[in-house]
Amino acid sequence: MGLAAGVAVALAVIAVAVSAYEGTRSQLLGQVDQQLRTLLSQRVSNGPPAGDRVPGFFQPPSGGFGDRAEALCEGDEGLGLDQLPGPAFGFTRALYTLIYPPGCASRVYVPRGQTVGIPLTPAMRATAATGQGQSFGDAQVNGRHVRVLTAGLGAKGALAIAVSLAALDSALSNELLLLGVIAAAGVALAALLGFLVARTAVAPISRFTRHAERIADSPELLEQERLTVTGSDELARLAGTFNAMLDALERSLAAQRNLVADASHELRTPISTLRANLQLLRDEKLLEPEERDAVRADMIEELDELTRLVSDVVQLARGSKPVADPGELRLDAVVEEALARARRRGPGLGFEAELEPTLINGDGERIARAVTNLLDNAIKWSPAGATVEVGLRAGVLTVRDHGPGFHPEDVPFVFDRFHRARDARSKPGSGLGLAIVRQAAEAHGGIAEAANAADGGAVMRVSFGPVLAGPAELLASRV
Ligand SMILES: Nc1ncnc2c1ncn2[C@@H]1O[C@H](COP(=O)(O)OP(=O)(O)OP(=O)(O)O)[C@@H](O)[C@H]1O
Ligand SMILES: [Mg+2]
Repeated sequence: MGLAAGVAVALAVIAVAVSAYEGTRSQLLGQVDQQLRTLLSQRVSNGPPAGDRVPGFFQPPSGGFGDRAEALCEGDEGLGLDQLPGPAFGFTRALYTLIYPPGCASRVYVPRGQTVGIPLTPAMRATAATGQGQSFGDAQVNGRHVRVLTAGLGAKGALAIAVSLAALDSALSNELLLLGVIAAAGVALAALLGFLVARTAVAPISRFTRHAERIADSPELLEQERLTVTGSDELARLAGTFNAMLDALERSLAAQRNLVADASHELRTPISTLRANLQLLRDEKLLEPEERDAVRADMIEELDELTRLVSDVVQLARGSKPVADPGELRLDAVVEEALARARRRGPGLGFEAELEPTLINGDGERIARAVTNLLDNAIKWSPAGATVEVGLRAGVLTVRDHGPGFHPEDVPFVFDRFHRARDARSKPGSGLGLAIVRQAAEAHGGIAEAANAADGGAVMRVSFGPVLAGPAELLASRV
């Protein structure tokens, strides 16, 4: 920004300086040219004005000036040049040179009072040849810069008058110096101001960056460090968004930490049981054969439990982020398959299912696992011979059993990881089933709810996102 401001101001200042310089130059040169014209008119019109007249010396030629006069090819042709005072030191007065037309023996006539003539150019000679027109030009006389007016005098050739440009040149060079100093100062000031403005504008962003770098360097600062939000501009919004991101990051980090802590705590029990059983088997000979078999069976059971726990933790670690690559699936078919497995696992129980054909978008495996967890709980808590009612209506799956139901004070926590009611601790399980159900539901944009039925037993309600096609469409398409 500093550079851009500097360049913009530099261009403007240079444009102004150039036009100011050109303006002054053309104005001063105009004055010089006017002076030359006046000098010319004093020579060739009705004689010099009274103030410039040198009495007794200048006589207007009898034949007058211009075309009618004959070329004499000698002296000053009656222009009265010889009578003019010679140029003072440093050309403070004008220089004259008469240029004879081509037919004359000499080329030029330099008035007596002058030591130097004005150097001839081809253009000046051409003017003398035609005797017509006027032209201005620059020349050097004895190393001095002069302005030359050449005017045709008809048959007499041409008269060149030169005046020094020393005063004009020094005025212009002073102006150039002044403009240069002003331009340089302007550019420097603009660059400085641009830099200061840019730095002020970027300061909050640099602060954010330093903050973010600090947090990135030491993530433990994530819990304490937040950006200060002031005002309501874009930067304040940025700071607010950044803080919200840090909050989300902190929550996710805490969730991961808790999962790891809870999981390692839960894994400790089956592992220590396994270790104890292994130690028992080391002294195998001390055990009765039945005891040995029991220990082995126990170990296999513990290993199964461990495997299930590990796979549950892995499943939970996926979080509730939306399913990456969902496909269309029939939710009623997924529930039907889960029910078939449940019937095998709960042989003494009755299962009543009322499933509407339902098409949704989702991850079949994840949904199947959630449904199985719900049915497992129902089987686990149903008294022998009871019925489990499963319904699927408008995309909402309901699993209802006739067990003891939830303790009312437990209801808000049943979906938490590793949460188990006190009387559940005697039953197998690790308290991850419903956490997996909720995560699967939320990852599909659905919900999971737990409640007690009015006449006893637990009622679970779960959905897995919007229904793409219900029974009306699906049954119609089959016909
Ligand atoms: N149908 C139900 N009837 C009564 N209580 C239930 C029912 N389903 C769940 N609960 C209670 O909610 C708790 C959490 O259930 P969850 O399915 O998450 O864990 P779990 O069944 O104990 O173990 P896991 O499912 O991991 O094997 C259970 O421990 C139990 O106390
Ligand atoms: Mg369970």
